Amino acid sequence: EKGGYDHFMLKEIHEQPKAITDTYRGRLLRNEAIIKMAGVEDNMKKFLNANRIIIVACGTSWHAGLVAEYIFEDLARIPVEVEYASEFRYRNPVITENDIVIAISQSGETADTLAAIKLAKSKGAFVFGVCNVVGSSIAREADAGAYTHAGPEIGVASTKAFTTQITILTLIALRLARAKGTISSSDFRHYLLELEMIPGKVEKALQADAHIKMIADIYKDSRNCLYLGRGYNFPVALEGALKLKEISYIHAEGYPAAEMKHGPIALIDENMPIVVIATKKGHYDKVVSNIQEIKARKGKIIAIVTEGDEQVRELADHVIEVPETMEALSPLITTIPLQLLSYHIAVLLGKNVDQPRNLAKSVTVE
Ligand code: M6R
Repeated sequence: EKGGYDHFMLKEIHEQPKAITDTYRGRLLRNEAIIKMAGVEDNMKKFLNANRIIIVACGTSWHAGLVAEYIFEDLARIPVEVEYASEFRYRNPVITENDIVIAISQSGETADTLAAIKLAKSKGAFVFGVCNVVGSSIAREADAGAYTHAGPEIGVASTKAFTTQITILTLIALRLARAKGTISSSDFRHYLLELEMIPGKVEKALQADAHIKMIADIYKDSRNCLYLGRGYNFPVALEGALKLKEISYIHAEGYPAAEMKHGPIALIDENMPIVVIATKKGHYDKVVSNIQEIKARKGKIIAIVTEGDEQVRELADHVIEVPETMEALSPLITTIPLQLLSYHIAVLLGKNVDQPRNLAKSVTVE
């Protein structure tokens, strides 16, 4: 049942090239240069007239929502707010009939997310669900939606659900951008082409597995770990930290790289590993100077870099290379080594990776 892998988590990490392909199959039609999704087409007027999009989710799905915020605002020029479902539902939020609420949930059963969309519906908002489990409560409660088609995710640590959620949200953002005219037809085509290359690039990123395991062995006994990223890769830093803490029980925090100097920099010494997403596109020079600041304080740097990078390689203690892609699509690639790093650390520590203590796959109580 684990398909030859030691754990479901590892199997699901390796399933990502296929899962991402399954997510865009039949929706991304490159030859015709269109994106087609029934749930979006049928409600195009609502999407185009929306004042803003509010994304509600929990945990890893909330991180996918943060990535989507960058993509929707960048490409489709629609204001987006991303909310923890648990906070949103109890805050007496301002919601109108011109708002669209997108609920993201792998299981479709998360109690807080379900309650948040019920609240949004009662205030007249249009609710769109992004779920993996077909026929789940959130999928049924939403006015419309799109499934990720990632296949069953058994490991409690969410992996392929995250990358497929980002994939579908990217498709939606691109479709709306095209309809609104906020993207040129040549840029649109470029995105479609690059999206189709993502599964192959994820495959390539997975090949760093043995190298990542070696790094995991060096840092497995750390008490703390910091994850830094900027722009599109800030949410990836949060996700990397969540993966590490939930399965290895090592305290980890994700931060926007530039926030480091507003507090977390005080934590840095020779015992602190810091995972930095430092790919070429997107604030590269700024991240390089963040890395220099860490080095000056003797922090240990594990950098996720673009293939062929030389500048960061000189500064970092370890580099993990990933294939280059467009900045907006980079979270789909940079996430992969972070998943593998936490997996290997947890396995080396002898933890129960698929069923970490105190956690349930779907949180059906508030
Ligand atoms: O099923 P959902 O996507 O609604 O679940 C949300 C969170 O409970 C979930 O992502 C959780 O944070 C994972 N264990 C993270 O790996």
